[in-house]
Amino acid sequence: MEHDFWHSKWHKNEIGFHEPEGNALLVKYADTLLASTSPRVFVPLCGKTKDIHWLLANGCEVVGAELSEIAITQLFAELDIEPEITTLGSLKLFKNGPLSIFVGDIFELTNETLGGITGIYDRAALVALPTELREKYAAHICDITECAPILLISFDYDQSVIPGPPFCVDETEVARLYNASYSITLLEREPLEGGLKGKVAADSLVFNLKHK
Ligand SMILES: C[S@@+](CC[C@H](N)C(=O)[O-])C[C@H]1O[C@@H](n2cnc3c(N)ncnc32)[C@H](O)[C@@H]1O
Repeated sequence: MEHDFWHSKWHKNEIGFHEPEGNALLVKYADTLLASTSPRVFVPLCGKTKDIHWLLANGCEVVGAELSEIAITQLFAELDIEPEITTLGSLKLFKNGPLSIFVGDIFELTNETLGGITGIYDRAALVALPTELREKYAAHICDITECAPILLISFDYDQSVIPGPPFCVDETEVARLYNASYSITLLEREPLEGGLKGKVAADSLVFNLKHK
């Protein structure tokens, strides 16, 4: 999607994707992210997700990437912490203790700037991107994290019923994007209660991806 699309969503507070209570599937499968003795978890396209609160409360260092400064200003306010803000080329870094968020286009983020990552939490990130961007995103994620393990949550539904985002990213699509670099395990497939946007039956899929 165009950057303007997401900036407009945040300006108008049209953030139906935001889960006020966080995501139960993260809590259920977090052991895949918390396995390291010093977990440093990357949350791409993070918005102001409550999952960041949970990861911090569970001992992780968290590094996010998000286009919208509105989202990140709200994230720090809701955490009740003040960010120290620095500019790094086209990105801004919002930092306080174990939380660092790069604000700007994720494709501007490099391996050197990001630093070492022990796990990636992708909820509503890959599925937010249209087909033509997903391949670039998947390659970039692997590149900047040296193919750190990924806990991926996606949706499977009939794309002809409603347009994305979120887009349908089923097992075939995950394999197309990640098979070259990762072993892919489907941990769970569960019907999404109420369907997607109340308009189409959908399943939530949870994958664990490990570098081959
Ligand atoms: C569907 S939302 C999901 C947010 C979050 N993962 C969650 O679960 O609430 C997708 C987010 O990706 C951000 N985004 C879209 N394109 C981006 C890009 N190129 N670089 C960084 N963030 C981007 C949007 O601003 C939006 O907040």
